[in-house]
Amino acid sequence: MKVIIGKDYAEISKLAAEKMIGEWDSYNILGFATGSTPEGLYQELIQANKDGKISFKDKTTVNLDEYIGLPENHKESYRFFMNTKLFDHVDVDKKNTNVPHAKDEFDVAACKNYDELVNKLGGADIQILGIGENGHIAFNEPNEELSANTNIVKLTDSTIKANSRFFNNEDEVPRYAITMGMGTILKAKEIILLASGVKKADAIKKLVEDDKVTTKNPSTFLKLHPNVTIYITQDIADAINL
Ligand code: PGA
Repeated sequence: MKVIIGKDYAEISKLAAEKMIGEWDSYNILGFATGSTPEGLYQELIQANKDGKISFKDKTTVNLDEYIGLPENHKESYRFFMNTKLFDHVDVDKKNTNVPHAKDEFDVAACKNYDELVNKLGGADIQILGIGENGHIAFNEPNEELSANTNIVKLTDSTIKANSRFFNNEDEVPRYAITMGMGTILKAKEIILLASGVKKADAIKKLVEDDKVTTKNPSTFLKLHPNVTIYITQDIADAINL
C-alpha cells in the first residue's frame, strides 16, 4: 500500500487528481464515492474537463452505495450528490453513470443486479474511496461479519448520527442503505483512498500499521488488494507517527 501525505485537504485533492488525470486514458470504468472528502478531487476533475485535459465522454461510472427510501432528486441522495458535485459539470453521458438503487430493505434482486453489472464491466479501473472515523468503507460498517457482495445494511447509530448533519434531524436519516461489499470493491483494478483531518487518524492507523485484516475495521480489507494508494493529510500522519 502506498501512502502519500499532503499538507492539507486541498493538497491531497490535487495530488489524487493529478494522478488520475495523468493516467486518464487507461481508465474506462471510474468508481466514485460520495461524502465530503472526494469533493475537492471532483472539483479538480471538473476543472481539468473544462480545460480540455480530460473527457468523460467514453467513460462509464459506478458508485459505491445509496440510501434506501430517498427519491433520486432528494438533496441527500447519493445520485443527487453525484449529479450536482460532478456529473452535471462534465461531459459524461448520464446513462453511463451507475448508482445502486434498492426500492426497500428487502430488495435483494437490486443487490444481485448491481453485482452483475459490476462484473459485466470487469470491475472499476479505478475506485475512489473515503473512510469513516470507525473504518467503514461505503456502508460496510464494523461488525462481527461482513457481506462480500453488494448488500443491504442497517445503518449503525454512529453513522446515523454522523450523517444527520446533512438532514434536519436524526429521524430523517434513512435507516437502510444498499452498498457494494468489500469483495465488490476489491474487484477494482486500482484503489485510491482519501482521508482528511485528524478524526480519521485511528481508522488510518489500523489500515497502515500492520497486515491484520478485521471486520471491526472494514478498511483493513484493502490490505488484500495489490494496488492501493492512500492520500492523507499531514495532521493524520503526525497523529500516527508516519
Ligand atoms: P466523509 O465521509 O468524506 O464525509 O468524511 C467518508 C465516509 O464516511 O466514507
